[in-house]
Amino acid sequence: MKTLSLKALIFLGLVLLVWACSQDQLANPFDVQLKKRLSKLSPDGTEEYFILPDERDYASIPQGKGNPITYEKVTLGKLLFYETGLAREAVAARGMNTYSCATCHLPTAGFMPGRVQGIADGGTGFGDNGEGRDRFDEYEEGTLDVQGARALSLLNVAYVTNTTWNGKFGANYANVGTENVWGQADETTEINHLGYDGLESQNLEGLDLHRMVVDDYVLDSLGYRPYYNAAFADWPNEERYSKLATSFAISAYLRTLLANESPYQQWLKGDLTAMNDAEKRGALLFYNKAGCYRCHKGPSLSSTEFHALGVNDLYQSGEAYQTDANDKRNFGRGGFTEREEDMYKFKVPSIYNMGDSPFYFHGSSKRSLEDLVDYFNEGVKENPNVPQEQISSFFHPLELTDKEKEDLVTFLETGLRDPNLERYVPEEVLSGNCFPNNDHQSKHELGCQ
Ligand code: HEC
Ligand code: HEC
Repeated sequence: MKTLSLKALIFLGLVLLVWACSQDQLANPFDVQLKKRLSKLSPDGTEEYFILPDERDYASIPQGKGNPITYEKVTLGKLLFYETGLAREAVAARGMNTYSCATCHLPTAGFMPGRVQGIADGGTGFGDNGEGRDRFDEYEEGTLDVQGARALSLLNVAYVTNTTWNGKFGANYANVGTENVWGQADETTEINHLGYDGLESQNLEGLDLHRMVVDDYVLDSLGYRPYYNAAFADWPNEERYSKLATSFAISAYLRTLLANESPYQQWLKGDLTAMNDAEKRGALLFYNKAGCYRCHKGPSLSSTEFHALGVNDLYQSGEAYQTDANDKRNFGRGGFTEREEDMYKFKVPSIYNMGDSPFYFHGSSKRSLEDLVDYFNEGVKENPNVPQEQISSFFHPLELTDKEKEDLVTFLETGLRDPNLERYVPEEVLSGNCFPNNDHQSKHELGCQ
């Protein structure tokens, strides 16, 4: 009798212990608070709203007008994006077949250039992660393919309705009402008259801008024709291999670039152990005291809204080619719409995998996430050219403690980092060329020879 009750007591004790542990797991205060906060901020009242779709679940990914995502388009786009064999309009023989879209949008650098400014045609070298690229000395500075802003990340770009830092591409969404400036001062925006969304419009232009071409050589000698036939079987022959088809395939591929394996996303999908406590505290700051959520919204943590944070422009870094104080890109949205109220306002970018390339903001003015968080915490503009009255009212001192800043950095650096972006990179491209770069020095540094 005595021993039985002792056994029963031990058993009861064990049951209690297991129960307490499981309660403890459920009752991690950060999980509870974060779930509550996210449901409150979500337009549909659920934290699931913030989940990025699986990249193979095409039906759940935002699609471009007239360009439904298909497996065949994504397959073709995934090759073309990295294909250095398209680089056939280089200004000098030495640049031929040396660059691709991925030269400036490196998957290992969060689809950013890995340096202050991307250099495609006219560049040489790669380094470890894009930082080692610079100008071929025989290219005149004026002939380089470079732009006066850092290349945007392409992660979660399916959520970007109007592309570039000033949102100039795309006929719909934010650009409804801007028709009067299309094709005027900036000829590239003529393309908006075709009525497509941001990605499909921009990538039509991007091929010319970046000196790439799809011609019979690419189709037959490199072998892309069957891929176009599969992706655009229902298109008439004269349109099937066109720039539009190429843009549609690349855009479909870009729409699948989703950072859905990041710890924050795994946590949202129910694995409460995917984020550690520091990341959870950082997320709580992001969605509360630090106010980041006011502009970085939805599953992609971006928005097609334009705000001035008063950061320095690329020319002010002193490290960029072909840009100066008069570069229209410095004026942000206002440089496109020509409206006074839009001056110096830039699109809110997606901020996953930011730790993979330490050059932040459109002018690469910050070189670490610590410095970036300090900038938001201090809430004081750094660019003397930007009038204080343009600065967003959400940009003000935050009074975060050192510990809080550290937690916020941890959330950005690891909580929002998808560790498996290789799944978006092909094993090889049809030309068999080295990629993302194929110049002599890059080949050596990328281990292609
Ligand atoms: C020389 C470097 C360079 C190359 C090569 C390059 N890009 Fe970009 N990309 C940029 C820069 C810079 C921006 C931002 C431009 C701006 O805002 O004015 C950008 C922006 C974009 C955007 C807009 C993203 C957004 O959120 O608005 C897309 C899409 C894009 N590039 C796709 C491509 C594709 C597809 C290719 C190949 C055809 C390509 N890029 C080649 C530098 C490059
Ligand atoms: C007022 C709206 C707003 C708020 C609030 C805001 N951001 Fe941003 N964020 C932006 C805009 C706009 C940019 C691009 C600015 C530029 O380059 O000119 C940006 C850029 C960034 C970048 C760099 C992205 C890149 O591609 O270089 C990171 C990282 C970032 N924000 C994180 C945060 C964090 C963390 C917070 C909270 C402390 C925050 N943001 C609060 C609007 C905002």
